[in-house]
Amino acid sequence: MKGVILHGGTGTRLRPLTYSDVKQLLTIAGKPTSEYGLEQMRQIGIKDLSIVIGAVGGEEVKKYYGNGDKWECKIQYVYQEKPLGIANAISLCRDITGPDDFLVYLGDNVIQDSLGDAYEKFQSKKYDAFLILVPVKDPSKYGVAEIGNDLVTGLKEKPRDPTSNLAVTGIYFLRETVYDYIDKLKPSARGEYEIMEALQAMIEDGKKIGYKTVGGWFKDTGTVEDFIECNMLVLESIKGNSSSDRTNVKGRVNFGKDVIIDQETKVLGPCYIGSNVQIKNSFIGPYTSIGDGCIIQGIEIENSIIMENCKIDFEDGRIIYESIIGPKCNIKSGNSKTRRTKLVLGRDSKVEL
Ligand code: DAU
Repeated sequence: MKGVILHGGTGTRLRPLTYSDVKQLLTIAGKPTSEYGLEQMRQIGIKDLSIVIGAVGGEEVKKYYGNGDKWECKIQYVYQEKPLGIANAISLCRDITGPDDFLVYLGDNVIQDSLGDAYEKFQSKKYDAFLILVPVKDPSKYGVAEIGNDLVTGLKEKPRDPTSNLAVTGIYFLRETVYDYIDKLKPSARGEYEIMEALQAMIEDGKKIGYKTVGGWFKDTGTVEDFIECNMLVLESIKGNSSSDRTNVKGRVNFGKDVIIDQETKVLGPCYIGSNVQIKNSFIGPYTSIGDGCIIQGIEIENSIIMENCKIDFEDGRIIYESIIGPKCNIKSGNSKTRRTKLVLGRDSKVEL
């Protein structure tokens, strides 16, 4: 089986972060969201991958994943000129997937469960496609599935009046047949070629679409709130690697290499602290990810993601909470009297608070 990971789209709901960074490369616990998907694919033995890149940030994606050697797989890149929809992005991979079955992963989706069970069911050849579904409170934000007799019986993209609470995750097991249905699509009301419409046409044609409902959590990291929640969920399942001589560290914390933390600092897990991080006189955690190379002083950080190479320097003890700070930001003391601050900052931002 081959794999396809989508890195196109515009990521408008994650602005300003996505003005400068590709949304699927934004990190949670030091790892791009799409890498969680890539690792899931590797776990079920997929070695031959295509990454669809868009007009914005494609070079960064290539730079990060390269030819796939680091993940012991082969990666090739497919260019999607305009974000014309998920089905359009998939159709561009036709020559690469050829007659093989393939698994499509939306690069901004993160799922806790392994895909092994779904993979095996799909391999049984009983189905023409296989989806992973998740019960949600707000189905109208997603593709929505109706089910019956162990099959998906209907699919609709972001329906106004959903007929079930089962969202379709962005993980699709597909066969070559899907391309015939994608070819017949017309742009939807929002101007995109919708994979839900192609799969619905397959159902109407008598094709069988199987499904599995996720056991653990699933997150589409498309919005700031969802991104922060995903960080929480990922950190919830880390094991921690703190050595016992770090007496000011409590709970599960994963440390990278060469982290320096002074005695005035307390870290309360679950947290992730990347390599070459220096922290002084601060309180970090719970549910905080700090990327490689950050230098942090005089701050409390809770439930936030600080991406790589940020510098945060306060003299008067402030609190940053539920925030996403993009790479290489510089935040320092200013004249603000606000003690608790919630921030969403794109790469290279400079802020005095
Ligand atoms: O997260 C699951 C949901 O993902 C599904 O339930 C929906 O059926 C599916 O349409 C999708 O909804 P989103 O609103 O989240 O789609 P979004 O536009 O954010 O795109 C999803 C991913 O696909 C994202 O990683 C970007 C990529 N993409 C998107 C488009 C429109 C491309 O690579 N090319 C594109 O043209």
